[in-house]
Amino acid sequence: HTGMFTYDPGFVATASCRSAITYIDGDKGILRYRGYPIEQLAKEASFIEVAYLLIYGELPTAVELTKFESTIRHHTMIKETLKNFFDGFQYDAHPMGIMVGVVGSLSAFYHDSLDINNPRHREISAHRLIAKMPTIAAASYKHNVGEPIVYPRNDLDYCENFLHMMFSNPCEEYTPDPVAVKAINTLFILHADHEQNASTSTVRLSGSSQANPFACIAAGIASLWGPSHGGANEAVLDMLNEIGDVSQIDKYIAKAKDKDDPFRLMGFGHRVYKNFDPRATLIREVCHEVLENMKDNDNPLFELALELEKVALEDEYFVERKLYPNVDFYSGIIYQALGIPTSMFTVMFAVARTVGWVAHWLEMMNDPEFRIGRPRQLYTGAPMRDYVPVAKR
Ligand code: SDX
Repeated sequence: HTGMFTYDPGFVATASCRSAITYIDGDKGILRYRGYPIEQLAKEASFIEVAYLLIYGELPTAVELTKFESTIRHHTMIKETLKNFFDGFQYDAHPMGIMVGVVGSLSAFYHDSLDINNPRHREISAHRLIAKMPTIAAASYKHNVGEPIVYPRNDLDYCENFLHMMFSNPCEEYTPDPVAVKAINTLFILHADHEQNASTSTVRLSGSSQANPFACIAAGIASLWGPSHGGANEAVLDMLNEIGDVSQIDKYIAKAKDKDDPFRLMGFGHRVYKNFDPRATLIREVCHEVLENMKDNDNPLFELALELEKVALEDEYFVERKLYPNVDFYSGIIYQALGIPTSMFTVMFAVARTVGWVAHWLEMMNDPEFRIGRPRQLYTGAPMRDYVPVAKR
């Protein structure tokens, strides 16, 4: 304690809320959504089932699941005029930049459901966000490659439909590859929530002023973009390409350890996990499966990533600081193998995390202890002094 306030930069030891959504034990490497181990959900559930679980607290019955899926399908389209937004961006705009703008703009389109004190309005907004994120994400990609936007197909499931909107074009319909669909489903489940990470905390803090949910999720996307957070999956690929060859690993490990060098091992370390990130273990398995199925067994980037992980995990610096691969270390290699460009990696994270953001926003809005978030500070500026007119300065 310093004076009246606890000084806790980075909120290392401050609980900002009570939450019943996600449980993490960072020392044991445990992650559970609503009590269910992440390993079971990743292997057996569908992403949309997990979305229901995170939002409503229980796994859906068959009837509830069918109803929820059809509600989400009902909301997959974006307004035709929203397409004009995309044309306003440079062709080479980063898709995360497009996402921040376009998702924020949804609040200008859905006045019919913006009464955040009305539970039904909150629920419709949540459904709209989950349903429209893949459409907006795929449209951002299409804008980058100069192809027309592909409309959603409501006969497909959530992950199939996303791949369809990414890879179909007016001349050729993409047939979803079951291996790709399964991999995306697993990755989306693993990215869906992670309690009070930076972007989720941003969504909560924005929402605490009673801002509308579309604006709050746009704030979450902005926070996720940073390379210390969701932007790390893109940064990992850039890093692996820069390292280039196993013979260079020692040099880069030395750079990561050097406090005078800004280089850090991307996809390594975590605020909460001081043991393995259980998601990284699962993603490494998916990576093996995808590369084997793609007959890409000796993918040089995967070889390089495996070797880099091995060297780091044997290095005293990383061992002492309990730095392990995190969720972002292997995900980019999978996305790349599926043909998704590097600039879309963090967008993929954002599509999946929208479910978590929305679940936390809904939980907060229902919390009787809910009040505006307003941290205090320790003032370090000038003491009181008198104004001097400009001519006398
Ligand atoms: C995500 O919070 C979440 O839950 C996030 C997330 C989610 O699902 O929402 O899990 C998603 O954001 C994953 C993290 C992705 N980021 C990266 O991979 C970027 C590289 N990693 C880091 O920059 C870092 O490890 C963080 C941001 C992830 C964590 O930062 P912390 O908790 O502030 O850790 P720290 O800076 O206190 O690290 C402790 C020590 C320091 O050394 P010392 O000062 O004690 O000597 O470890 C060092 C750090 O310099 N360190 C690293 C390192 N990460 C930490 N050294 C080299 N390479 C690294 N990657």
